Amino acid sequence: MKKRIFGNWKMNGSLASNAALLDALAQGVQAGACDVAVCAPAPYLAQLQAVLAGSAIGIGAQDLSAHTEGAYTGEVSGAMLREFGVRYVLVGHSERRQYHAESDELVARKAQAALACGITPVVCVGETLAQREAGETEAVVRRQLAAVVQVNGHCLSEIVLAYEPVWAIGTGKTATPAQAQAVHAVLRAQLLAATTAAGRIPVLYGGSMNASNASELLSQMDIDGGLVGGASLKAADFLRIVACAQ
Ligand code: PGA
Repeated sequence: MKKRIFGNWKMNGSLASNAALLDALAQGVQAGACDVAVCAPAPYLAQLQAVLAGSAIGIGAQDLSAHTEGAYTGEVSGAMLREFGVRYVLVGHSERRQYHAESDELVARKAQAALACGITPVVCVGETLAQREAGETEAVVRRQLAAVVQVNGHCLSEIVLAYEPVWAIGTGKTATPAQAQAVHAVLRAQLLAATTAAGRIPVLYGGSMNASNASELLSQMDIDGGLVGGASLKAADFLRIVACAQ
């Protein structure tokens, strides 16, 4: 499967700093062996649409509403994202689950809302440190994925899945390749049980991926790419990770 490297800018950037970063990325990423996208804050999507037109870099958003339209102040719909050329949207990132109390069920409905608009949801799952230490990793990620499978079973093969152990996000503490592979294998088995098209679903790893550890992580059998936070904010670092996936 073609590898995917997706950047997650989180709540970072400005028109000026984005312009420099996007220029460097557009020049540095060639269409080919690996699919590359950046997930930017919603106010910058128009900028991405303008700057990335004709480039090999896909546009991603970081969240969307589960609703289609109406009285939901502050929310952004899938149809609105679509107007800015958005092809991917993160759903259920651990920061949304943690700071915005997003439940498994809401995440599943957000994935459904994205799919209904022709946007690929990048469904994020992952355990906290306390859950890992309590031996609950497998149960937690299986439960998070099960909610998405239940609501989206018929078009499950259109999603991208990302395993992001919460304790590895932004901490510089990466899961070892073996730790990540073990969880990816669990997720893969669950996908295989849910759909005959499971082989099409990329499962990305995220959590302190950087230019030094990307190669080894990406060489694991069930790791189909990376979701990169901090290291996606510097063009040189991000491009080095992209190179590891080619
Ligand atoms: P990180 O973030 O690479 O900074 O750990 C990954 C993510 O949250 O998607």
